[in-house]
Amino acid sequence: MTDRRREEVLIRIEHAGGLTAGVSNDVHVGTGVAEADVYGVATFYSLLKHPNEVRVCQGLSCHLAGSGEKIDALSAADTPFLAAACLGRCDEAPASWDPRGKNSLPDVHLTAASDDLSINLAGVDSLSYTGLTAARDNGADWVIDELEVSGVTGRGGAGFPAHIKWRGVANQSVTERYVVLNADEGEPGTFKDREVILKRPHLVVEGLAIAAHTLEAHDIYCYVRGEFGAVRDALKAAVEEATAAGLLDDDVAWHFVDGHGAYICGEETALLESLEGRRGMPRMKPPFPVEAGFRGAPTLIQNVETIATIPAILARGGTWFRKLGRTEPGTKLYCVSGHVPRPGVYEAPMGISMAELLDMAGGVTGTLKAFSPGGASSGFLPASMINVALDFGSLQKVGSMLGSAGGVVLNATVDMVEAALVQAVFFEDESCGQCAPCRIGTQLVRQALERFRRGDADALEHIDDIAWGMQEGSICGLGQAAALPLLSAMKYFPDEFQSRVSS
Ligand SMILES: Cc1cc2nc3c(=O)[nH]c(=O)nc-3n(C[C@H](O)[C@H](O)[C@H](O)COP(=O)(O)O)c2cc1C
Ligand code: SF4
Repeated sequence: MTDRRREEVLIRIEHAGGLTAGVSNDVHVGTGVAEADVYGVATFYSLLKHPNEVRVCQGLSCHLAGSGEKIDALSAADTPFLAAACLGRCDEAPASWDPRGKNSLPDVHLTAASDDLSINLAGVDSLSYTGLTAARDNGADWVIDELEVSGVTGRGGAGFPAHIKWRGVANQSVTERYVVLNADEGEPGTFKDREVILKRPHLVVEGLAIAAHTLEAHDIYCYVRGEFGAVRDALKAAVEEATAAGLLDDDVAWHFVDGHGAYICGEETALLESLEGRRGMPRMKPPFPVEAGFRGAPTLIQNVETIATIPAILARGGTWFRKLGRTEPGTKLYCVSGHVPRPGVYEAPMGISMAELLDMAGGVTGTLKAFSPGGASSGFLPASMINVALDFGSLQKVGSMLGSAGGVVLNATVDMVEAALVQAVFFEDESCGQCAPCRIGTQLVRQALERFRRGDADALEHIDDIAWGMQEGSICGLGQAAALPLLSAMKYFPDEFQSRVSS
């Protein structure tokens, strides 16, 4: 059996309509992969295991908008549904999604079009491809130097300098190389990559074409979140349009792979495992993907937003991009949802504050109590921190993170114990289970919170030790961050925990 046949496992199950009777045996016969192995891989993925069930989102923004009541009503009416960790539709909370339906996406609020934005979601998407022309004219060293000058860092969560990755792949002696687009956007509170592809698909196609041309890769893999069918179609259509216009290199093949409903596959090495037809379990690093990624070959994996900044950097210069930022280089797409009148995706100078973002989102519905600056993994900050710069460095200094910039706003009606529980449920559901500190720790955090809610005043006494074990012993960022929502809620809102004990 070759690795290539194994890669077909997930695709064949998807084409068969999910893991229904007889499918694992058919896939075994078609690929040579043992049936038990096929079954074991498929059951990891929600969309393969439960291909037809309607999903109701129980992510934080949807919880704030009443998903709990929606779930209770469906349960009472015996209507079949699955409670989903997050559907990437925080702007239409409380969201639901039908795998068999049309599922039109909401018309999201955006920043007005402007020439001083690197992505400019409300701008006109065109076939100019001037960044690609500049890359062809000036060569690989110029491209990577320009990225270095721009200071652009990864927009998927880790904030790693892009030029280091590009140079890392360029410097490999192996000639088999891959470019992978991470469009598996799954962090609760985050829906920006969805909008980049829907509104500016050619920026993404051009950015990927620049990467493949510069790094001499002949295959581009676009891994798109499974719940985002319209997004995948928009990207495919843009590739077809650019191909028809003769803009793309002939020696580069474009591949589109749907995610299958597992948040952890947004982690880059879990994504690679999934592309290779296995359970999406993160790999130990090093080696990093730039050295040994897809099929063991040098691989550039980049987030959608990061890739979409590349054309403007090359067309207008790295210095232009760097100067757009306030505290760190560039502009950034910030998502805002929760208790705001105008949930949306707002592009602003890196380092804008939540106070300024709230102005864009129409203020707060009610009185601001807390906010989560960068998705579930960033924990909670109190209203008093509304002026902290929303950038990678500043948020790290206050014990949080920018992550994917999925801001969620909580008003004074929110019970922080409940909010922490919502995030704990998310991490427990989405842990891949590979390493004990995360698998057991996420369960313990959720159980301790539930016991505390039921009146056990001592339930949280070992939380610091559990969190330490998770931070130190987890392979990937999920386990390392999973206790942060609870720890930050206890730190900034001690009265809410105390009042439960004393009442
Ligand atoms: C648990 C977890 C989930 C992640 N989910 C995503 C995701 O949905 N999209 C994404 O682009 N990066 C995600 N990342 C970050 C990726 O591992 C990786 O850093 C990113 O794809 C690199 O691209 P960038 O440098 O352009 O950000 C996640 C990381 C972790 C630890
Ligand atoms: S930290 Fe959690 S999600 Fe990450 S590899 Fe370990 S078990 Fe899997």
